Amino acid sequence: MAQYERNPPLNDSDVLPDPLAQFERWLADAADAGVVEPTAMALGTVSAAGRPSVRIVLFKGLHEGAFCFYTNYESRKGEELAGKPFAALTFWWDRLERQVRIEGPVERVPRELSDHYFHSRPRGSQVGAYTSRQSQVLAQRRELDERLAATEQRFSGQEIPLPPYWGGYRVIPETIEFWQGRANRVHDRLRYLRQGADWRIERLEP
Ligand SMILES: Cc1cc2nc3c(=O)[nH]c(=O)nc-3n(C[C@H](O)[C@H](O)[C@H](O)COP(=O)(O)O)c2cc1C
Repeated sequence: MAQYERNPPLNDSDVLPDPLAQFERWLADAADAGVVEPTAMALGTVSAAGRPSVRIVLFKGLHEGAFCFYTNYESRKGEELAGKPFAALTFWWDRLERQVRIEGPVERVPRELSDHYFHSRPRGSQVGAYTSRQSQVLAQRRELDERLAATEQRFSGQEIPLPPYWGGYRVIPETIEFWQGRANRVHDRLRYLRQGADWRIERLEP
């Protein structure tokens, strides 16, 4: 059983009053510590029948205080978010023995932001996002490879347009919890709750 002994105690006085600034500080710590994908986060959504599903996506920055990621709007997660626009996010940075949990309502980011991000990606990724019908059943890989080649050919020498079925979401945080491992499983947990324009911090039992 791993003992979490790397961290000093996490006191209320150690964290910033703004959880978004605190998050950015911990994310920078994770990058500095050499975490392989520090922006990878588990995204939980729920179906119309109330069944949860989780997958990893990459955090792509804060926009107006909300956590952004990009995906296919017609994917399973897209369908679930269309029906129940609430999500939970979890980051786990093993080397730092730290976890961050975020929950709140979800909305699409402005189209200009998706367009800007889409065109900042390598062309191969743009072709992939344009071509993939994310989460649909595919009979054979070869069929997808042929469609990728067809997209390449269709837009040869031209910009790949932002597909209408692809773009960003932002999770507007209502709660953000900072968890830090301590010895004997007696971990530190500080949860921020949104109170109008401010945040209240409370400590949770481990
Ligand atoms: C490290 C990592 C990063 C990923 N990043 C993304 C991402 O940013 N956007 C995305 O749509 N899928 C991403 N994926 C793939 C998703 O985990 C998932 O397979 C895909 O989005 C389909 O999920 P869905 O069928 O539940 O909609 C990533 C997977 C991994 C392992």
